[in-house]
Amino acid sequence: MRHFLSIEQLSAADFKTLLKDTPKIKKQRGSRSKRPLAGQIWAMVFSKASTRTRVSFEVGIRELGGQVVFLPATEIQLGRGEPIKDTARVLGRMVHGAVFRTFQQSDVEEFARYAGIPTVNALTDGEHPCQILADIFTFQEKRGPIQGKVVTFIGDGACNVVTSWIFAAAKLGFELRIAAPKAFQPAPELLGRSGGKVVCTEDIKAAASGADVLYTDVWVSMGKEAESSDRIKQLTGYQINARTVKLAKSNALVMHCLPAYRGKEIDEETFEANAQTIFDQAENRLHAQKAILSWLVS
Ligand code: CP
Ligand code: NVA
Repeated sequence: MRHFLSIEQLSAADFKTLLKDTPKIKKQRGSRSKRPLAGQIWAMVFSKASTRTRVSFEVGIRELGGQVVFLPATEIQLGRGEPIKDTARVLGRMVHGAVFRTFQQSDVEEFARYAGIPTVNALTDGEHPCQILADIFTFQEKRGPIQGKVVTFIGDGACNVVTSWIFAAAKLGFELRIAAPKAFQPAPELLGRSGGKVVCTEDIKAAASGADVLYTDVWVSMGKEAESSDRIKQLTGYQINARTVKLAKSNALVMHCLPAYRGKEIDEETFEANAQTIFDQAENRLHAQKAILSWLVS
């Protein structure tokens, strides 16, 4: 049985397969699209807010012929303390697949183990693998193979999105530079586990120079709201703006997984100047996730 739980656990070969399938699925949308989820019902269990992930999965599952049951964690017994493994065993007997957005990475892994149905990580504190697949597809759609390129992340370098980028760098052979204050850089243990070419620095200029991609994410990830003011204080300056864009290659893509907080991780002017790329990224969540779903049931 296949799951899509992390970029760490995804083989390089499967990663490349999904990157090849996504443009085909995008092109076929609305015409002679296949319906590999026909007759299936998928559960979406969300313990955190979502716009893009929720809508793209709901639309994607339906376009592939399936039906969806959306279950906010606060409205099911999971939110009142029913164990994940019990929730998983119930859903596993009733639905054909699950998309789970939660806190601990170990929670989605436990869910997959007990449910016995294909399970997708729709974001945990550990990883956001669907996002990174869509992002890399977006880059390749615009600029060709990512292998050998330089991706620079500026901001909270210890968040879920960065962790998925770290594992992707090792699997697809590009350089990842992370510009963040020391306290917001990834753990050395994680970098040891991933391998690949990953450079961590506090020096935004060094990180952005000659980059093919400038990428950022929110300074305050979901679940970290209590640290909000401290994070804003420490991360101030780790922003994508006209100065950082000037350092990167002249055709560099500015990317953001969204939601974006103007004046924090990116300024308004730079965001709007790169809105085409950023909203292509958002749209590509749909196509990339349809590729994931099709691959899970193939
Ligand atoms: N990028 C992303 O996952 O957005 P949502 O939180 O809106 O799903
Ligand atoms: N790092 C962010 C990503 C949002 C899509 C978070 O976890 O809130």
